[in-house]
Amino acid sequence: MYNAKITALGCYTPPEVLTNQDLEKMVDTTNEWIMQRVGIMQRHIAPAGVATSDMAVEAAKIALEQRGIDASELDAILVCTVTPDMLFPATACLVQDRLGATHAWGFDLLAACSGFVYGLTTAAHLVSAGSHKKVLVIGADTMSRIIDYTDRATCILFGDGAGAMLVEPTENGEPGFIDFVNQIDGSGGDNLKQPAGGSRIPASAESVADRLHFVKQDGQQVFKYAVRKMEECCRDLLDRNHLTVADIGVMIPHQANRRIISAAAERLGINCDRVVINIDQYGNTTGATIPLATRDALRCGKLKKGDLVLFAAVGAGYTVGANLWRWQM
Ligand code: UT7
Repeated sequence: MYNAKITALGCYTPPEVLTNQDLEKMVDTTNEWIMQRVGIMQRHIAPAGVATSDMAVEAAKIALEQRGIDASELDAILVCTVTPDMLFPATACLVQDRLGATHAWGFDLLAACSGFVYGLTTAAHLVSAGSHKKVLVIGADTMSRIIDYTDRATCILFGDGAGAMLVEPTENGEPGFIDFVNQIDGSGGDNLKQPAGGSRIPASAESVADRLHFVKQDGQQVFKYAVRKMEECCRDLLDRNHLTVADIGVMIPHQANRRIISAAAERLGINCDRVVINIDQYGNTTGATIPLATRDALRCGKLKKGDLVLFAAVGAGYTVGANLWRWQM
């Protein structure tokens, strides 16, 4: 068995931002409500014509350049997204072609807000098996394309962005990937979904008129589940590795709501100064929140080489995921 480590990180957000003040002019909301209930100040929004693969390629190029390798050295590309350019071909194929990753296979991974954590778990296992040496995990979402900007309950929440991490084998027995907890609970599927556009409700004039191609959410149900499961999966992961929160250098949670993160951190008993929160700048970028938060943690010195990092997410499905890494960058 080999072990896996994260060796490079690249992120991309489009330059345009949508502020709370902009949203105040679009729907019946206020900056105060959004800041208090969710903690978002602004979100980045991709201009017309820019799709998920475009942002994914930008993030991937930064990661490859940071590592100093050519795309042709990649063995696999996993694109974690709920907003693929098209239902098929997979966005991973579009990214592979644009990067010139001539020796990579890959696929899209649909686990919504837990997508990046699922991607890291998958990449770690591909590397541990010894069959893959360089796996690029990309979380990328253009949420603005599936948001109803007349629905104040959802349009304030989401933004666009992409992030990529390269996963490779560790050297000389150094520690890297430690363990994971991944779960699904399909009984919560109705609480957060994009109802139309699949085989159940294919696109029709009626599905468009009924606004069924947009995100629909029962926010309170998702909120309660997210707080409970974020704590539960992190606690399980720590317990079974005989670790406590005191061992964690930094917790990097999915960014859906500042109150979800604070409540989960409080239940876990981890001090807020070791939890990364950057939702104020980006909103919920679904697959991209964890790499974006990791980049910000590195920039502000919260995450350093040798730290024990806990990634955690809960999302539509429901999907649940957490994994633990010894950071080696
Ligand atoms: O990544 C996983 C995906 N999503 C999540 O994790 C999101 C989980 N849920 C949440 O973050 C929160 O439930 C929301 C932020 C979506 C909503 O916050 P809440 O505290 O649960 O509010 P609520 O839905 O209970 O609504 C409270 C009130 C309602 O008014 P009434 O019925 O009390 O008169 C809403 O109509 O707030 C109203 N409201 C708003 N008011 C101003 C809902 N959205 C807005 C808004 N501006 N944007």
